[in-house]
Amino acid sequence: MRVIHGTTIIAAAMLLFASSALLADDELPIPADAYVYCTVCHGVQLMGNSVIRAPRLSEMEDWYVERQLQAFKKGWRGTHDADLAGIEMQPMAAALSNEQIAEATAFVVKTRSDLPMDTVRGGISRGRHHYTTCAACHGDDGQGNETLGSPALTNVNDWYLITQLRNFKNGSRGAHPDDAYGNQMRAAAQILADDEAISDVVSYIATFKNN
Ligand code: HEC
Ligand code: HEC
Repeated sequence: MRVIHGTTIIAAAMLLFASSALLADDELPIPADAYVYCTVCHGVQLMGNSVIRAPRLSEMEDWYVERQLQAFKKGWRGTHDADLAGIEMQPMAAALSNEQIAEATAFVVKTRSDLPMDTVRGGISRGRHHYTTCAACHGDDGQGNETLGSPALTNVNDWYLITQLRNFKNGSRGAHPDDAYGNQMRAAAQILADDEAISDVVSYIATFKNN
């Protein structure tokens, strides 16, 4: 099944190469790159694809992308039975050498895309209240903090933030003993009592988008 999947990805990537020449001047280009196949799941220009549950990656911090690719490769992430989306990604990272992880990261960082649409409707004022704890690590405007290893939360698909907060809360992400950053976030996710609190905080985070 993996082989069929791989062939489909390569065919789709070739189509993408062929069509990128047809873009109008004001459209964002997809850089010609060996890692353009990542867009097959992560969407055109890595803008995210909710059908595959693969998030927007464009413009993510290099240190965070590289660390997540390593986390998938080592099996810290994407190996729990309940983490169906992570299980899709894990073999993609496992197939990359450390050098290829650095190259794929460079591709992610240089690829630009439009901002994601809002899909989650929660209570923004309740979310603001929950977010006071999150701000200590992710920053007042969700801008992230490299020193604390905490990624930016802005301009990521809201549905993806929901999945990740559920995963941290139920231990399908961040539970591996060697995953120090994941362990910290797993502990922090426990302050969100239920799915409603998760939707509320994600709705508040969505207000940072246009900053
Ligand atoms: C077969 C589909 C598929 C392909 C191909 C794929 N990904 Fe993914 N990727 C996913 C899915 C699904 C997720 C979400 C996993 C989750 O919910 O935890 C993901 C998650 C990620 C994340 C984590 C983002 C975050 O915010 O933590 C990174 C980084 C990533 N992918 C990079 C890449 C790169 C780079 C490539 C190309 C080398 C790639 N992916 C190819 C499906 C794919
Ligand atoms: C003690 C510091 C700390 C606090 C407090 C904290 N986080 Fe995190 N968060 C992190 C770290 C570190 C990571 C990266 C984990 C990893 O490397 O897998 C992370 C990752 C995340 C991710 C995954 C992002 C992605 O692209 O996959 C989300 C979503 C998130 N945090 C949301 C929150 C929210 C919402 C709160 C408040 C309820 C919060 N965090 C509180 C440190 C923190």
